[in-house]
Amino acid sequence: SQRIIIDTDPGVDDAIALWLALASPELEVLGVTVVAGNVALKDTVRNACKIVALSGKTSTPIYAGAPGPLVRDQVYGKYAHIGAFSNELVPDSELQPQAEHAVDFLVRTLRKAAQDNDPITICAIGPMTNLALALGMHPDVARGIRQIVTMSCAFTALGHRVPWAEFNVYADPHAAEKVFTSGVPLVVMPLDMTFQALIGADDIDAIRQDGGKPGESIAALLSAFDRSDLTRFGREGGPVHDATTIAYLLQSGLFSGQKARVGVAVSGNTAGYTYADFYNKLPTPPNALVMQKVDEYGFFSLLRRVLSRYGAH
Ligand code: BDR
Ligand code: CA
Repeated sequence: SQRIIIDTDPGVDDAIALWLALASPELEVLGVTVVAGNVALKDTVRNACKIVALSGKTSTPIYAGAPGPLVRDQVYGKYAHIGAFSNELVPDSELQPQAEHAVDFLVRTLRKAAQDNDPITICAIGPMTNLALALGMHPDVARGIRQIVTMSCAFTALGHRVPWAEFNVYADPHAAEKVFTSGVPLVVMPLDMTFQALIGADDIDAIRQDGGKPGESIAALLSAFDRSDLTRFGREGGPVHDATTIAYLLQSGLFSGQKARVGVAVSGNTAGYTYADFYNKLPTPPNALVMQKVDEYGFFSLLRRVLSRYGAH
């Protein structure tokens, strides 16, 4: 099985990504590193603990990381006012994070992976502060990373947080820049692609029916936080951005894209703006495989199939 670390700021779509990964024997989740993002760190950590607990994989260690971005002022997601998931949406649990800081865990684990010549895949589904701190303080950890599969960036589908940027990059552009220039191979799942897979009522019903406790929570979360918007997406259904990173590791053929140099504006009025050099105009070589298309039907079939393992006893 493939060894992964999930760096996350749960978050509804983070929750779906985590449950998907934790139900997949193909993936060995070495740790969940948590960062502030959608909500404050204490709430993303609380949410991560409840999500992992509900999966039954309670031996998966959770590490609290950076409470805010490297340089810019803190911004939270759209549902920041709600804070942690209520116990009605995701049942409470006793599970606690480890004492070790997320960045220390990353450095320790990735160095070991580099030594053993057995690099680890990182799924980055929140602001990239933890990863930037690890790479910034100890650049040698890059050798312990096989690839970073990141849900971030927007190249044409801009505007869901501010008109010029996607949230994970907007929330910490300096961290994104550190990661993009680290030399680690990237797979980028941008909004342009994630907005092509909109979950509708039928898939939500099926996940509620067959997905055990996590399935019930997913259905509750997707209904509690309105993710559908007919005027924005042109049809019914809402995006589940972060889950695409795990789906990519399970079934990469669902996605297609192109190699490009990806970069980010870190200052000025459009900080967080990302570009992909599809025309090779820059002297710098590609650092990313940028996904441009997803097989929507195949993606939701995979989600339903994997999550149904929680219901099968
Ligand atoms: C990203 O921002 C967050 O709101 C989601 O969890 C996702 O990681 C989408 O832009
Ligand atoms: Ca997220």
